Amino acid sequence: MRADVIILGAGAAGLFCAFQTAQRGRKVLVLEKQARPGLKILISGGGRCNFTNLKIDPSDFTSQNPHFCKSALARYTSADFIALVEKHEIAYHEKYRGQLFCNHSSKEILNMLLSECEKASVQILYNVTVRSVEKNEDSFQTTCSIIPPLCKGRLAKSTSPSPPPYKGGGTRVFYSKNLVVATGGLSYKNLGATDLGYRIAESFGHKIISPQPALTPLLWSKKDRDHWRTLAGVACPVQVKMGDVCESDDLLFTHTGLSGPVILRATLHWKKGDPLFINFFPQQDLPSLLKEKKDLGNKTLMKNFLSKWIPARLADFLCNETGKPESLQHFEVNPVSVDGFDKAEVTSGGVSTDSVSSKTMESKHCPGLYFIGEVMDVTGDLGGYNFQWAWASAFAVAESLGV
Ligand code: FDA
Repeated sequence: MRADVIILGAGAAGLFCAFQTAQRGRKVLVLEKQARPGLKILISGGGRCNFTNLKIDPSDFTSQNPHFCKSALARYTSADFIALVEKHEIAYHEKYRGQLFCNHSSKEILNMLLSECEKASVQILYNVTVRSVEKNEDSFQTTCSIIPPLCKGRLAKSTSPSPPPYKGGGTRVFYSKNLVVATGGLSYKNLGATDLGYRIAESFGHKIISPQPALTPLLWSKKDRDHWRTLAGVACPVQVKMGDVCESDDLLFTHTGLSGPVILRATLHWKKGDPLFINFFPQQDLPSLLKEKKDLGNKTLMKNFLSKWIPARLADFLCNETGKPESLQHFEVNPVSVDGFDKAEVTSGGVSTDSVSSKTMESKHCPGLYFIGEVMDVTGDLGGYNFQWAWASAFAVAESLGV
């Protein structure tokens, strides 16, 4: 089978790129490993898809080259995506800090992308696992294993953890003049994540920035886990400092470590061995409050006094930890690792931006080869930024491939 453009992966970036490119007069074929498209879109934002943010700024993205994302983000903005959402009459609301969510369901965003694909005559093939890509003269050859839909049910029902390969499946080669890699990162393997995009990039001479789980909880050592366990379930707003980085948002203690938006954000910057300094009283002038208590001869127990501003269980725990309440505005904790790819909302690192055009996302090593979305070394903050990168990077390719 031949197409002008083959897109690997029917996720956010792949689907968006598909219809935008097909609308510009190209024959587009999308190859997807899973039986269904856009699985991450469906689970995103707690089922309501935080599809963009009102305040997108390049500083909300991390990459070895912080300037790389600027051009694409400027050419396809959150206002552009909102216009598309409104055209499809999808009701949405701002939840917090410019984060836009569907009022009803993430399904609406996926259905919007699929209906645009259908209108633009994009062809999507499911149950197609791309194995390798080669380039001969002018054309890419994409070799895939196909699982016929017939066997889906049988595989799903199998009790074996790794079902034997389906005998009726086969290998097929697809040809295209252009190839867009939209295979995403490594998180949530059960939703289809593979390292294929990195392998393709490497085979064409691209450098890979070590992929790491990000926007994920932090874990205690075994000893600390037992120590902090009593706080599991406690949540409160805090400020967290780590070197030059300072984040303010909610913190959640879990059975295994620290979570909540402030911690997920911190993992975009955290490196093994980095201590975190937590300010449990981000809105209060704690030294003044403590001085006032002392001056007034206030005999209230410290834990009860502090529980006016923080949860009582936390106040009790922290008072046992330290005899110096003033230190609770700069309280050092030492997690040992980030939680794995199973829990990570995104993968930081990926295909280095060094040899990719920031204007078109085209490889500088191999004309006609493009990388978009999470597979690249561009990672957005929590709050709709990763989807906006998927839309914007995909749009840059579509503009460049349009007839
Ligand atoms: P994506 O992962 O969406 O798609 C890649 C596709 O490639 C998949 O369909 C996969 O099956 C396919 N594929 C992989 N290997 C293949 C192979 N060998 N052959 C064929 N197909 C292959 N972001 C945000 O902005 N707002 C939010 O609310 C959330 N919420 C959220 C919640 C959770 C739980 C997670 C895990 C993630 C988020 N995110 C998010 C992040 C967001 O989902 C993510 O950044 C985008 O989906 C990335 O889009 P891509 O298209 O690049 O990859």
